[in-house]
Amino acid sequence: MNGRDLVRSVKAVGMVGTAQGLRTVRSSWRRWRSDARALPRGGAERARVPGAVTAIEPASGGGVVRFARAELRVRVTAGGAVFLGWDGAEPEPSYALSGRSPEPDPRAVLEPDKEGGWRVVSERVTAVVSRLGAVALYTPGGVLLRRDLPPRWWEPVAGGAARWVQRSEVAADARFFGLGGRAGGPRLRNGTYRLWNTDPGGSFGPDDDPLYITMPVQMVVADAGTHLVFHDNAWEGEVVVCEGVVGDGSGHDRAGSCEVRMGGGPLRYWAMVGPPARVLHSWASLTGPPALPPSWALGHHHARWGFGSEQEVRRVVAGYQERGLPLDAVHLDIDHYEAHKVFTVDKERFPKLPQFAGELRRAGTRLVSIVDPAVKAEPGGAVYDGGVTADAFVRDAAGRQVRGVVWPGEAVYPDFTDPRAREWWGGLYEERLDQGFSGFWHDMNEPVSFAAFGETTLPRSARHCLEGRGGDHREAHNVYGLAMARAGYEALRRLHPEERPFLFSRSGWAGMQRYGGTWSGDVSTSWAGLRASLSLVLGLGLCGVPYSGPDVGGFDGSPSPELYLRWFQLGAYLPLFRTHAAITAGRREPWEFGDEVLGHARGVLAERRRLLPYFVTLAHLARRTGAPYVRPLWWGAPEDRVLRDCENAFLLGDCLLVAPVFESGAVRRTVQLPRGRWYDTVTGAAYEGPGKVLLDAPLSRIPVLARAGSVVPVRGAHGGVELEAWAPAAGASGGGLVVADAGDGWEEGEWERYTTRWSGGRVVVEREDGGAGPAPERPVRVRGLGSV
Ligand code: GLC
Repeated sequence: MNGRDLVRSVKAVGMVGTAQGLRTVRSSWRRWRSDARALPRGGAERARVPGAVTAIEPASGGGVVRFARAELRVRVTAGGAVFLGWDGAEPEPSYALSGRSPEPDPRAVLEPDKEGGWRVVSERVTAVVSRLGAVALYTPGGVLLRRDLPPRWWEPVAGGAARWVQRSEVAADARFFGLGGRAGGPRLRNGTYRLWNTDPGGSFGPDDDPLYITMPVQMVVADAGTHLVFHDNAWEGEVVVCEGVVGDGSGHDRAGSCEVRMGGGPLRYWAMVGPPARVLHSWASLTGPPALPPSWALGHHHARWGFGSEQEVRRVVAGYQERGLPLDAVHLDIDHYEAHKVFTVDKERFPKLPQFAGELRRAGTRLVSIVDPAVKAEPGGAVYDGGVTADAFVRDAAGRQVRGVVWPGEAVYPDFTDPRAREWWGGLYEERLDQGFSGFWHDMNEPVSFAAFGETTLPRSARHCLEGRGGDHREAHNVYGLAMARAGYEALRRLHPEERPFLFSRSGWAGMQRYGGTWSGDVSTSWAGLRASLSLVLGLGLCGVPYSGPDVGGFDGSPSPELYLRWFQLGAYLPLFRTHAAITAGRREPWEFGDEVLGHARGVLAERRRLLPYFVTLAHLARRTGAPYVRPLWWGAPEDRVLRDCENAFLLGDCLLVAPVFESGAVRRTVQLPRGRWYDTVTGAAYEGPGKVLLDAPLSRIPVLARAGSVVPVRGAHGGVELEAWAPAAGASGGGLVVADAGDGWEEGEWERYTTRWSGGRVVVEREDGGAGPAPERPVRVRGLGSV
């Protein structure tokens, strides 16, 4: 127990009239004891490195290179991704992959390289394996992107999981992104990033790490090119990032490096090379396309922990209606449960939930339910008893239920890595659908067990099914939220096949996008929290999770009117646009901050609604290509070093550049523009990039710029989709995409591509693929003409 643990344990004992506090202390002791008994103790270890090459064995897509004390499989796959697996590791089984792993590319073969090494040349990347087991990745043009040094293992002499380390070098100018949701990014500063999904407790700011979603996914962007590396291993680990230093041109650059250290599990990884869009496309092909949210989920959501009753929800909804503010969803938190028990409703406070939900739905507002994984350990409780019958709960090494403590008190945890437990749990969503809920908000699934000392999760020695392979929490922890999302998603597809599920989850891992999105979790109410919000959305997008957003206004405390408004303005341009706060926090309704804020918030909500067709298009695009809605400024120009370091603005799709305000009192800000012409969408003023411009950012708005030549689908006054085209620069052309939403089911909307160009002194907007069927006649408004 360290000092911080001691403080927590004293607090826990003093907590809530002691009942919950005592449970927490007891559960922490139980956790400590079971780990002390069941986990292997650190004993003697044997270190191993591969040694020198002894033989090779060609196979489709590459082959196996054998070393004195290890072997490496290299396999280039049809999609261009390279698989590297040490010591017999194969792509499957994997929680990240979406199905069968991709076929090998038969054109890629092992060839001898210089100095006794071997190489595999393919269209997108050349992998060179050195005589001692280093792996270098080169662009097709022969430029080095990354060099993984020979790995090193430490194997317990007494048997058990071997830990390993792999160190890699990248260019001096390279920048690292990803590793899941990190509050201090999106560019990952030098430091050690833990891979262990964690509820930081309370609220978090940029310095808190790790958070709820960690992933061994790194995207590395350098002058020479962009690559993504994914170590497919869910064990606890850490990644040490060290950016290089670019010297003065006299050859004194220092290479960047990163070191992946894992506590167990296979050493296998995937590498993808190419421009960012192509890399993310490969990633989505490997791990599955992002789930398409129903269109209402791209509107505005309002949540609160502590609505407390139907009357209060009615009051808030009426507040939106009376002021003419759109409200697409209301989220009910744990206070609508009976005594905080999942899959129940407090009948006194919400006496007729299905009727109420129906009423709200007719008025255009959906209900979303929180779903916590922990089940109150209560014989006689329907959910608990059902889980016992299904043998669904996590057990310890001695076969006893593992009990933790969460909101309802002493609780047990479904083992979502067990297909039978997923099936049982999924059936419970029927109750939620019957209550009238349209969407699901998975929470506390790192998973959390309150602790007086030690970690706020299950014992590492807790047993898990791991799809029949069997293992313990050290391996299952990081995929717990992902597997819960799978249980929910698959159940919703079964129970409600005609509608696309809406699900978002606080914790998760590589591949979670297949089932839904995520949100920031409990981001602190501060300007730093506002910055962290964007960091999370950008970083997760680069890890293939495109749908997310923060608690607008921050989770705790009371934001100043200015901070609230700036958060609202940022949130409106992020995929999940949701106000939410803790039970002890101040109000978050837009009218609680005075008339000026209300007026501006009204404008923000109207603009979000106007941009809905654009968000729908971006959702479809994300599904088909893996490209996130929210992208860093370097997305189209990764070779631009200035953009690579720019973290205070982002691209929303191809068309818009959004520059939020992150500082109190600021009424203008500088914006780093990528190449090309950009129009201020409010004033119509044109700016030429690349370069820095100073733009007005009065309290009423944050700068939003449109790319010259782009076509943005917007909602017209009568609800139809119209085209807002921005004049191309003289002599240039442009275009845009519209995927009209075909409803919230599974039918595919048609993809309409438009081009823009100058002709005879006019801007012409034309449908590109006119042959694909009768083109809907869309009203077109050309903007940006004033500045030609
Ligand atoms: C967690 C969630 C938060 C929720 C609260 C109560 O802190 O992150 O969003 O309001 O639990 O359920």
